[in-house]
Order: sequence, then structure tokens, then C-alpha cells
Amino acid sequence: MLPAEPPFPINLKRVGLYLHVPFCKNLCPFCPYNRIEYDEELFKQYERAVHEEIEVYSPYLKGCEFVSLYIGGGTPTVNLQGLLRIMDHLKQNFSLTCDICIELHPANMDSECLVSLKDAGVTMLSIGVESTSDRILKNIGRNHDGKTALDSLRRAIATGFDSVNADLMFALPGQTLEDWEGDIRAVIEEGADQISTYPLFSFPYSDLGQSQKIREIKRPDSYMVRSMLNITDSRSIASGYHRCAVWSWLKPAKKKFSSITRHHYIGFGPSAASMTGSHFYVNTFDVRSYASTLPNKRPITLSMPIDKRLEMAYWLYWRVYELKIYQKDFCDLFGNDVSLESVFSNVIKTFELAGMMERKNGGYRVTQKGAYWIHRLQNEYSLNYINRLWGSCRHKPWPHEVTL
Ligand SMILES: C[S@@+](CC[C@H](N)C(=O)[O-])C[C@H]1O[C@@H](n2cnc3c(N)ncnc32)[C@H](O)[C@@H]1O
Ligand code: SF4
Repeated sequence: MLPAEPPFPINLKRVGLYLHVPFCKNLCPFCPYNRIEYDEELFKQYERAVHEEIEVYSPYLKGCEFVSLYIGGGTPTVNLQGLLRIMDHLKQNFSLTCDICIELHPANMDSECLVSLKDAGVTMLSIGVESTSDRILKNIGRNHDGKTALDSLRRAIATGFDSVNADLMFALPGQTLEDWEGDIRAVIEEGADQISTYPLFSFPYSDLGQSQKIREIKRPDSYMVRSMLNITDSRSIASGYHRCAVWSWLKPAKKKFSSITRHHYIGFGPSAASMTGSHFYVNTFDVRSYASTLPNKRPITLSMPIDKRLEMAYWLYWRVYELKIYQKDFCDLFGNDVSLESVFSNVIKTFELAGMMERKNGGYRVTQKGAYWIHRLQNEYSLNYINRLWGSCRHKPWPHEVTL
């Protein structure tokens, strides 16, 4: 990826909007995301610049049909009034009749906040529960206890959104299989519509990675990961959930909460990425550089061109992540003269022979065995991508080049 400025987007399909809010009240040492400690003055600069970035894109996205607005962080509600103003500005500039999804932190979502979000049109939430054990939450440096986490989930469900996801982390320091089973049971009992589970990865550039002096991403013990995933799968399925993605389990008839599985998307805010079909690019991570670049120039730090085959591969990557690959969906996006088999015969044949994929409903389904191995493969891809791109962009606001 190079510092070249890509053209403005045209002919986007199934467009998602993404907004990144890079502030948190408490910085968790394990976190690889672009986030800094909340500062009111800096938030003002950020807010002004996001409004300007929205206006810069507005003429190019007129007439687009949006499939979702996703608000991630950081902690998006760290300044609720500021967030509501940005959402208002998005609605004034784009026709948003789509789902609005937001990530929430248990300590920054009081009942008033939940009602304001619902009134502002938010339909889906994801809450960073992480663990229900006070001992483990303390071990990983979270600033809330298990009761606060479960209470936040209960209040969110009671407010009446279309879908509420609970994020849980596993393979954490000091966490036993019994602790993990207790976490899964607790979020199921609270009635979470979706459960997403992430093993703890340590990134060299995170505070945890720095304190451990690691040079490479530290992966959790694979035996532990497998045992904990087996528990998640059996407990969730016994309670009526089905696996809806490599990491997630969903109640029947509920809408799936997911972040970056849209075909094309435009990101606003520091570190937000965009995928336009012709280019993939990412904004500068540094809030001050982001704010001072706008409104004269887009705050894009690195960009790469995407050819048709890469765009197709990108589509396949996310469909595999969602465990379902439909031929019709592929043709709707890329035309009736191409088939999945003609473009990806090697990959599909290999996965089929290995029992990782099977033909189903005019396409393919990733099997239970496939879900485990594909998740291991995708980890390697996404961790390397995150580590190189995010590691460099967190280090310098305008890196010269990053090779993925
Ligand atoms: C942006 S945070 C969620 C919202 C909010 N900031 C919070 O922490 O509650 C996204 C999620 O990524 C997961 N996560 C963060 N750092 C991780 C790491 N090093 N390894 C695995 N999962 C991680 C956590 O489950 C976290 O809830
Ligand atoms: S895990 Fe969430 S609250 Fe913690 S630093 Fe990362 S984004 Fe902020």
C-alpha cells in the first residue's frame, strides 16, 4: 500500500458506511485497535473533521443505497452528544434507511444512552462483555466488573433493539474451562441474540506486547482454543443458537451483527478503511493529522488498487467467514458470465476434498471441520494484515509504504 490518493468512489454496490470513534476512557493493554485516551479538546477537533469528511464524500454517494451504518471504536459513546450530532449529519447527507449497528462498552452505556441510541435509529448493538469473572477482567486490565457487564447486556436487551451481540474473549490469562463455560452460560441466560468469541492475541505494538517485549504476534495455546471453541459450539447449539460465522453464534430468526462483511464500504474517521471495488484505502490513524488535513484534502494515508480478481477474492474471503457461499450472490455482483468454479476452482476443490466445504443450496457451505481450520487460516491472514498495516500506521501518521 502506498500514499497515492485514490479516485472518488463510483458505481458502488451494497455499500456500507463505517464510522470510527478512536477514544476510550480506559485503555485496555491488550487492545490492537486505533484508540487513545478521551480528551474533550481533541474530541472537538475530531468531531469537526468528521463532519467535513462526510461533506467531502456526500456528492459522490448521492443515490447510493446503503446496507448498513456501522459505528466502531474505541468507545463510540464516550461523548454521546458528539456521536448523536455526527449521526445526524450522516443522515442529512445520505439516505439511511438501513440498519445502524454500534459497539458499546459496559461502563459507557447507561440507560439514558441506550434510549437515545434507539431514538436515533440504532437497530443493533454489540457489547464488550469480555468475561463475567472479576478476577479475569482485572487480569486483562478492564475497568468494569462481571456484574456491570451482565447488567449492561440485560439493560440493552430490555431497551428493545433488533439484535444484541455479546463479545466474549477466551484463552485469557488464568482462565479455566470452567470459567469459560460460566461465561457462555451467563450470556445465554441473559438472552443475548448473538455471541461472538475471540481468543486473546497479543500484538507487538499493543501495550501488552510492548510490556512482554514480543516481536511477533503471540497466539494463544491451540489446544486451549480448540477446547474452548468446542464448549462454545456445544453449549450454544444446545440452547438453540446456530453458528453464523467463524466466531459467532446466533439465535434463529435474529439479524446477524457483523462489522466488515459488506461488499463495498466507505469509512469515516481516523484509521477508517474503505473498499470501493477499484481501491482499498485507509485514513491516517493520528487524530490531529486527520483533523488538520480536512477539509482541504482527504485524510487517506495508504491506498492500493484492486483488480477484478482481487475484488472477487475479497468477496469469497468474507463469504467463507460467514460459512455460506452462494453462486447467485456471486453472479449478482460480478455478472452471469462468471461462475465460482471458473474463478476459484483450485480453492473450492481443495476445500471440498479436505471435507471443509460441501455443496448446498446452489453454492457451498463450510462444514464444522472447515469452520475450525478456516478460522485458523483466516487468523493468519488477518493477523498479518492487522499487524503490518495497523502496526505501521500507529507508528507514523503518514507511512511511506506497507507491504501486505
Ligand atoms: C472495539 S472493541 C468493543 C467495544 C468496546 N471498546 C469495548 O471494549 O467494550 C472490539 C472487541 O474486540 C475484542 N478484542 C480486542 N482486543 C483483542 C485481542 N487482543 N484479542 C482478541 N480479541 C480482542 C474484544 O472482544 C472487544 O470487545
Ligand atoms: S478493548 Fe475497547 S475499551 Fe478497551 S481499549 Fe480497546 S477499544 Fe477501548
